[in-house]
Amino acid sequence: MQENEIVFLDSGVGGISTLAEAQKLLPSENFIYYADAANAPYGDKELPIVCELTKKAADFLLGYKPKALVIACNTATAAAVADLRALYSLPIVGLEPALKPALKQEGKLLILGTALTVQADKLHNLLNRYAENRQVIILSGSGLVELIEEDLYSPKVERYLKNLLDPLAKEAAGLILGCTHYVFLRPILQRLYPSLPLFDGNEGAARRLRDLLAERNLLGGGSGQLEFFSSFTDPFFKEQFAAKCERFYRYCFPLADQAQKAESADK
Ligand code: DGL
Repeated sequence: MQENEIVFLDSGVGGISTLAEAQKLLPSENFIYYADAANAPYGDKELPIVCELTKKAADFLLGYKPKALVIACNTATAAAVADLRALYSLPIVGLEPALKPALKQEGKLLILGTALTVQADKLHNLLNRYAENRQVIILSGSGLVELIEEDLYSPKVERYLKNLLDPLAKEAAGLILGCTHYVFLRPILQRLYPSLPLFDGNEGAARRLRDLLAERNLLGGGSGQLEFFSSFTDPFFKEQFAAKCERFYRYCFPLADQAQKAESADK
């Protein structure tokens, strides 16, 4: 049994939604959450730039000798997970839009991702493979990550969602949240579109993490410790960002409770 940590990487607070699911499923692990906040957002950058940023952040994080790395960001996964898996032998879990569970719904599906995620080959390969004969509308949430980071409950967020989704939501059989930041929008989306089923990849990623650790006999050995930090170097920004992480972590508890319910249902 090892005692080292599981490291989570995102550009900002989005991956905290993934972390919450993983923590619920794996309470006796130690976690490190790292946000490359000094270079955020990733989603409106070019793919080679995000690939380099992700590789640089991963390289830095591997200095902690973690037992697994979770790229808790659909954008960074699309840009760099293949390269990272070729470079490193530790278990690496990526995030991708939860298409497969959503395909169980009959009817038109909506996928909302960052500009990079919705343009990247990774999503289009996934669609060609599993959803060739299905109607899937791909939506770019360009600018939405910044609004969420600024103030999740600001009227700007709701306005953005209504502009984008009001014309489509009634006709849709499901909305796939293809960015870990968007998982925080669940309560708002549920209020705006109560009959629209929502899907995200967090629970699947947490299970994948558990399975990879189990395969390598790496489960357990921690005590539920959690540390947040970021790529900010300026003490003011560093502290401000750490406080934001704490806030978003607290928003997660209802999400984590959902994961617990799913886990009990699986037993
Ligand atoms: N949380 C990231 C994702 O899942 C996106 C964040 C960003 O655009 O920086 O795609």
